[in-house]
Amino acid sequence: MTDLDVERLLSELTLEEKVALTTGATAWTSVAVERLDIPSITVTDGPHGVRLATPSEGFDLTAAEPATCFPTAATLGSAWDLELLERVGEALGVESRAHGVAVLLGPGANIKRHPLCGRNFEYFSEDPVLSGELAAAFIRGVQSQGVGTSLKHYAVNNQETDRMRVSAQVDERTLREIYLHSFERAVKGGKPYTVMCSYNRINGTYAAEDHWLLTEVLREEWGFDGLVVSDWGAARNRPRSIAAGLDWAMPASPATNDDVLAAVRDGSLSEADLDTAVRRVLQMVARTWAAANDRPEVDDDAHHALAREAAAAGTVLLKNDGDLLPLDAQALRGAVVVGEFARTPRFQGAGSSLVNATRLDDALTALREAAGTELPFAPGFSVEGPGGRDGDDDALRAEAVELARGAGTVLLFLGLPAVDESESYDRPRLGLPENQVRLLEAIAEVNEDVVVVLANGSAVSMPWAARARAIVEAWLGGQAGGSAVADVLTGAVEPGGRLTETIPLRLEDAPAFGNFPGEAHEVRYGEGLLVGYRWYDARAIDVAFPFGHGLGYTTFSYGDVSAEVRGSGAEVEVDVRVTVTNTGSRAGSEVVQVYVADPVASVQRPERELRAFAKVHLEPGASHEVSFTLSGRDLAFWHPILHRWVVEGGVFEILVGASSRDLRTSAVVEVEGEEIVLPLSPESSLAEFLNHPVAGPLVEPFLEHSPVPLDDPQLSFFILESQAQTLATFGIPGFDRQTLADLLAEVERRSAG
Ligand code: BGC
Repeated sequence: MTDLDVERLLSELTLEEKVALTTGATAWTSVAVERLDIPSITVTDGPHGVRLATPSEGFDLTAAEPATCFPTAATLGSAWDLELLERVGEALGVESRAHGVAVLLGPGANIKRHPLCGRNFEYFSEDPVLSGELAAAFIRGVQSQGVGTSLKHYAVNNQETDRMRVSAQVDERTLREIYLHSFERAVKGGKPYTVMCSYNRINGTYAAEDHWLLTEVLREEWGFDGLVVSDWGAARNRPRSIAAGLDWAMPASPATNDDVLAAVRDGSLSEADLDTAVRRVLQMVARTWAAANDRPEVDDDAHHALAREAAAAGTVLLKNDGDLLPLDAQALRGAVVVGEFARTPRFQGAGSSLVNATRLDDALTALREAAGTELPFAPGFSVEGPGGRDGDDDALRAEAVELARGAGTVLLFLGLPAVDESESYDRPRLGLPENQVRLLEAIAEVNEDVVVVLANGSAVSMPWAARARAIVEAWLGGQAGGSAVADVLTGAVEPGGRLTETIPLRLEDAPAFGNFPGEAHEVRYGEGLLVGYRWYDARAIDVAFPFGHGLGYTTFSYGDVSAEVRGSGAEVEVDVRVTVTNTGSRAGSEVVQVYVADPVASVQRPERELRAFAKVHLEPGASHEVSFTLSGRDLAFWHPILHRWVVEGGVFEILVGASSRDLRTSAVVEVEGEEIVLPLSPESSLAEFLNHPVAGPLVEPFLEHSPVPLDDPQLSFFILESQAQTLATFGIPGFDRQTLADLLAEVERRSAG
């Protein structure tokens, strides 16, 4: 913290200086005011490495200072390990300080709504609890170093197609329970110094101009006390944005300073609103300047080792028939390596997150080192680039098949070409390129022991899965991803990952199919709450691999879960306890996942929802009791009429297991809900009047004269579902418009009292 006296400075700044402070000095720096000793700070991307642009950057995103390229969020998130995320965050914080960076632009907490979103590799999960908790841990880690983060892209930026203006049409409940929920957890649990608002519109309003989003929800409800920065170029109308709660328009946009000045002068923007934005800019500088200027040494080796640990921890073993993996020394020496990605790793996605890695491990070299011999290699396929393919696939395939014939295990490295995954456009396909699938099929004809190792930033379909005995999903594992894969294949390290997104069988099964990426600048979130596994479970759709799935090299058993309820209503808490035991012969870790189901409710509820998780590491034979406390919020839904969270009484099921479709133990609890009183109006139905605690007893006497027998189940339906205003014009003797008006006034009087 520098000793900037924010309030004094605010009173000494001229109007012009204040306006200047609400944008940048350059693409990456804040404005300094020398006369008042206000320094400038530097911000930079993010999220999985420090991309400090070298001065010549222009549009060349590769022109950056070297920095550790940690695994992308796709891999990091798959570790389901908050402690690890914090450690990676700390290392990123140290590297930020070493580069003089005050705010690292990340993490991303957008929900993976559709597998084809081009930027899914920068996001953590399809589930808001998981995404929000991981983001919060990442933030805590970075900020433990005194520099800030920028939680992005707030909000509902779930596709790259038309991202600058598309309007995401989402109902309020879905926003609250899914898309905002991820950010809410990250804000409350991580307390980021800054939040970056997205380019897109939400229900017609640009995020950058949305007072409800940036001020009412973010600050007033969630208690965010930092600065909101625009995504680069998202503040189109700065006066409107400042009024909505956007403090800092980036990159430098001095050309629009006059718009802000004019708005203050003509009164359409209050100076108080401008001051609020300036205050937050100064606070950001004050919070981060000192840490960003002490320039510690970076231990590159240690950070590379951490990147390697994290990549292995996020590698998901999807399938391992007959325990083909791990390969022992002899099996490894007899193996052959196939696939260009073993030699030329795909380790990060394209766009603003591109890191200029300090070094790069490839799996081929790492495997040869582990084997102590030159394992044979064939590239097997050509990789598609922006200008098409660059090799003769028939010849490459024939060479690889000959290598595989008669070999021991085939380690086959497949994945998406880099051109498929980038910021600013969405993926063209769900499957692997055709030439790779043909290669796999041809190899499987001559060798049964095929291990497929995948490099891709989000789910790919796997119609070929039966042809591989083992499948290792390594995602985009950062600069040490190659050696991490070797660690996993040889068993030096267990594959610690679990899926943070469902792998569907077909694109047509995906929840947003038909509603992605929209048209005419609108995308309708027609699947509502049923995002990711919520959809596949509600519709009982088979998937290739379910959310939460991932194998290790040992096995675990679960004891009976116990669940105890304390308190009631919004304050209710449920203590959940379960004992897990490592029943295999190797040490290993298990991700214990807690799901909640609400089988009977007055609104639609997903089949089950992840509410808590813990990663436990156990020696062979060891047991551990894992405990969780669920809160009222974990049972609540966003009430679409009351516009708040509500715990509805009734029975809840607590399900615990190793994936969303591998639930091992469950308990049923009965929870006393809160009183839910829906507001009444002339449009309310008679049933709603009768259920109302004040109106009910007042209305009942009139029903003695009901022309329709209320004990007749069919006929009563007509009258009970009729609006009060209709019944007041005919139907119930004595119940007229005046009676209705008096009744509503009485309800209001008693409710207020
Ligand atoms: C991206 C952000 C990034 C910013 C600065 C934008 O286009 O959406 O994620 O932080 O550029 O590079």
